[in-house]
Parts: sequence; structure tokens; C-alpha cells
Amino acid sequence: MCGIIGYVGDRKVTEVLIKGLKRLEYRGYDSSGIAVFTNDRIEVTKAAGKIAEMETRVAGFDMAGTHGGIGHTRWATHGAPNTTNAHPHRVGDIVLVHNGIIENFREIQEEVFRRGFKPQSETDSEMFAFLVHFEMERGTEFVEAVRKSFLKVQGASSIVVMHEKFPGLIVGVRNGSPLVVGCDGELGGVAMASDVQPLLDYTDRVAFLENGDMAICTAKGIEFLDAASGRRIERPFAKIEWSADRLDKNGYPHYMLKEIHEQSRTIIDTLAAAIGPSSGSLPFEMVNEDGIRAIIDADRVSMVACGTSWHASLLGKYWFERFAGISTDSELASEFRYRSPVLSKRHLVMGVSQSGETADTLAVLQQMKERGVETMAVTNVKGSSIARVVDYPYFMCCGPEIGVASTKAFTGQMLMLYIMANRLQRGAAMSDPTGALMDALVKRHRQTYELPHHLSRVLDDGGATMCALEKAVQDVQHSKGFFFMGRGYSWPLALEGALKLKEIAYVHAEGYAAGELKHGPIAMLEPAITVVVVAPRDQWYEKTISNLQEVKARGARIVALGHAGDEKLAAMADHFVPLPLAEEQLDESLLPFLIAPVLQLFAYRIAVLKGTDVDQPRNLAKSVTVE
Ligand code: AGP
Ligand code: GLU
Repeated sequence: MCGIIGYVGDRKVTEVLIKGLKRLEYRGYDSSGIAVFTNDRIEVTKAAGKIAEMETRVAGFDMAGTHGGIGHTRWATHGAPNTTNAHPHRVGDIVLVHNGIIENFREIQEEVFRRGFKPQSETDSEMFAFLVHFEMERGTEFVEAVRKSFLKVQGASSIVVMHEKFPGLIVGVRNGSPLVVGCDGELGGVAMASDVQPLLDYTDRVAFLENGDMAICTAKGIEFLDAASGRRIERPFAKIEWSADRLDKNGYPHYMLKEIHEQSRTIIDTLAAAIGPSSGSLPFEMVNEDGIRAIIDADRVSMVACGTSWHASLLGKYWFERFAGISTDSELASEFRYRSPVLSKRHLVMGVSQSGETADTLAVLQQMKERGVETMAVTNVKGSSIARVVDYPYFMCCGPEIGVASTKAFTGQMLMLYIMANRLQRGAAMSDPTGALMDALVKRHRQTYELPHHLSRVLDDGGATMCALEKAVQDVQHSKGFFFMGRGYSWPLALEGALKLKEIAYVHAEGYAAGELKHGPIAMLEPAITVVVVAPRDQWYEKTISNLQEVKARGARIVALGHAGDEKLAAMADHFVPLPLAEEQLDESLLPFLIAPVLQLFAYRIAVLKGTDVDQPRNLAKSVTVE
């Protein structure tokens, strides 16, 4: 969702702010703006649309004598996405940017009108500037006025404020979406942002604000306060392992394409990070064995997640049940949160979230903690809210994912859940302790791991998979609608394939368990509809083929994904996309790691042919910090 950047120091402020906002662009936004201290004034510039719009407006200003400022990319919740509603907002000397929702904004607005003021925008955010303004009218000093105002607002919000009479001072306060601060290692000065990525240009040591923290930033350094009491507190600085060069496209036309191709590396890095050296009788150990023991001790596991992460958790359910025999549910966080879930005595709740900030997933984990339930998470972001709230955080090693549509993070999530399921099998002494599956995953094959080796063949541009995929895409790109279908492991993949296509190509697509198609959607099938069937030769294969017969009889176009050499499947399909390996080369439970990237590329190619904004699709945000 929205991005926040703040900076005080000797660098060219506009450049720092705009570069920072561009680093945050991937999160999704509809307008942007910056406010800069120039000599004795604060200059505000904002515009609807892309950052480039706002940048052209800044170009005309003389920004000499600047020494600090704040910037924002907005994802509208209150009021249309236009220039007036774009942040920063200003009331008198107070200028601010805000991420989140001020739930009691109507009451504040009534007071604003009662006092004879007229807000400039339709946003809830502007109300906070009025609160600070009123507080200062009563004689309260600036930082204290921000603190007192913050205690009056309800809802999850992070706000960064400056005051025209205090150049070079920026006050950030967090209760909800993240705020991170760091000192400029090279030139001195301080930067603050809603995400570590803009800070990586200046430092690799950052401090995350906790909810209820304030950070008072000047060029000399950062002071942390507890907003409730106003007392000084200490916050640790942690080293961030991602470097700024992982934020570049490295010659790819889109981040999404780069990230799809990074998936072999995701697998290798995640394996290396998740599995420690062999010890004792166990062929492998996970780096955090305490969490594994907690799952073994649990009588039921509920995974909670949203969107793509939910699809990964559905696969997690299949693997946990098959390998570890643990009763596992995969739940939509937004539903679980407001249900009355019946928890068993030794229930464990696991959040799956790339960003570690998704509001619904975070809320479930917080609720569970309050109820004394053990919690765990699989996430990509160290220091994220979810990582910090749970008892056992696990990290996949994807590096930053910039494309709004999740690709390599999906693979990272699947892999963590797969490794856990296998580790549980051994820990819980299930009937098949041979370790053959893990061997299939990690066994070295000509200098490289087995699975990444197969994946690189799938993704090879001149290879059989990609050539067939491109032909299929060219042929079906104008279809009226798409169904993706599969059974077993291929059902979550069908859901994910459809989601990807909707997200980036804006084409109607639905994912279905193949056995469900005849219970309704089959009525829609006709030649203008394309059905993408995921049908590797696994335990569900024959059933999927029967379902495909039903599709074929209705005349829909068929794109089939299956094992190379599967003549039966190829004969039924208009386009057969082969996975370049024989059935016996890889256990069926590992096929999702090869199939998901093909479906991602199917969506990617259609989106490119349609000319959509692949990395920043309309209306979407990278991390959804509102419910
Ligand atoms: C993925 O392509 C989507 N952008 C979206 O469904 C995403 O997976 C969802 O919002 C959950 O995000 P999280 O993994 O950061 O919690
Ligand atoms: N609620 C605020 C608005 O609509 C902030 C939205 C955001 O987080 O970008 O302007």
C-alpha cells in the first residue's frame, strides 16, 4: 500500500525523496507528493498518477537550501485518487504524510467544522494535521503535540509530520504499517521509510519502530519515544542482508520476469538457509528446530493467509497431511478473523505472508497470541510485523520481491512448507523415513541441485516448454475468458494461475478443482473460452483426464500442461505444453515447483501482449495493510 519516505541531511533532498518513492513504487499507488524544507518554507508538490507526473512539477522549483523533507505514494482509502487528496497534507505550519486509516476521522472532522475550518481534502489523514494544529494552539510544543494527537486517533496508522518553524526535524509515529529508520553511513543525516528498501541506498543498519513508537529525526540522529508515556526508549539496529543491487531489473524488461527467472536461486538460497548440516540419525535439521517441535506437539495446524500466500498454504495442507499426518486447515485470514474458530487444546496457527505486513493475517496472529495459542509464520521479510508477533518465525530467502504479482515468493513459501512437512515426517517418525523426497529435492545433479536443474530447463527460452507456451499464448490471448483446472496439488496451482492472469492481464479467469467444473461452470464452456488444464502424470491424472473429456465435448480451447511425451493428453489439447522430464525423474509432490513458473509466464506473456502495466497492475498494492 502507500509508501512513506522522510529524510534530513545534506544530500539533495528532492532527489532522495523521489528516488525513495521510486523504490516504493512497486507497492502500488495512485498519486504521490513530497514536501521539502527550503530555507524558511515548506514547499509541497503533488500529483495524481505516476511519480513521474509529480517529478515534472518539482523540476521547475528552485530547491537550493533544502535540508529535509517527506514524501508519499498514496493508495486511496478516503476520497478519490486525485491531486488534492494526494499527500502531503498541510494545516497551517503542520505538514504530514499518512499510511492507514483514521477510524474516528468523522468526529475529528466535526470539531474541525465547529471551529470554523474547512478541510482542503476528503482524506482522513488531513484530520491529524488539524489535531496537531489545535494542540499547538493550546501552547503545546510540536513533538508533544504530535504525541498527544496520536493518542486521540483510532485505527492502524503510521504518520510522519514536520513543522515549518522547525526545519530539519521530522517526527514519525507508528501504530500499524511499518516505519523503519536508519542513519546515512556516508554523508550523515537520517532517513525514514515505510519499508527498508529506500534505506538500503544509504545504510544496511536499520531500526524498526514498534507499534506505539515515535522517532524524532534530525540530521544529528534519531531519538525514540514511547508515544503512550512520552518517555525515551531504545530500539536496536539490525543489519539488513539485502543489498540495493537486488532492487534493479538486471536487464529484464520487468521485475516480474526477472523474479520468475530468479526462482532457481530462491530454491537454492531457501534450502541453504532452512536446512542445517546433517546431525545424528536425522538426515537434515531445520535451522529453527523449536518450531518443528511445536508442530509435532500440536494436534492441529491452521494456516492463515491471503491471495497467493493462501494458495501456497493450500499446498502446505496437502504436504502436511501426506507427509506428517497432521490435521491441517488452510484458511483465508479475512474469514478466520471474524469467525468463531473452534480451537483444539494444542492448536498451532501459522501465518503465511510474503510481506509479513498483511493486515488480516497479522490480525489473526495477534488474536491467537492473546488467546495463548502458539503461532508461527513463513515470511520473506525479517523485522516485519508478522515475523515479530509470532513465536516461531521462518524466513524464505527470496530477496526483495518488487513485482506486485507474487512469483518467487510463492515458490519460497511452497518450499518452506514442503521442507517443514518433510522434517515433520522424520520428527514424528512416520512410516516412510527413507528421506527419498528430500533427496530428490537436494540431490546434486551435475553440480547443481536436482529441482533447480529441472526448473532451469523449464524456463529455458529455446526449450520445449517455453516454445510451446509462446505458441499457446499467441493463439489464446484474445479468449473471452479462462478456466484453470487441476486436481490434488494442481488445484492450488490452478487457483494461482487464474489469479496471476486476472492481476496483471485484467482478463477474467477462474481456478477450479477439475472435479468441480461440472457442478456449474461447465455451462460457460464454448470455443471462445480457454481451459488451461494442469495434468501431470500423478495420482490424480486419470480423473483429470476424464474431466478434460467433458471440457473437450463442449468445444472450449484447451491448453494442457503435462509430462513430456504424454501423447494422450497432447491429443486432447489444442496446445500441449510439456514439462521437460519423465514421470519417474521427480516425485509428484515436487511438480508444483516446476508448474507454478509456467503458469506465471502464461499470465506474464498475455499481459505483455495486451500492454498492461505488469509490475504495477491497476488497483493493486504489494502489501495490503488495510483490511
Ligand atoms: C499476489 O500476486 C498478490 N499481489 C496478493 O494476492 C498477495 O499474495 C496477498 O495480498 C498476500 O500478501 P502477503 O503474502 O504479503 O501476505
Ligand atoms: N487513508 C489515507 C488516504 O486515503 C491514507 C491512504 C494510504 O495509506 O495511502 O489518503
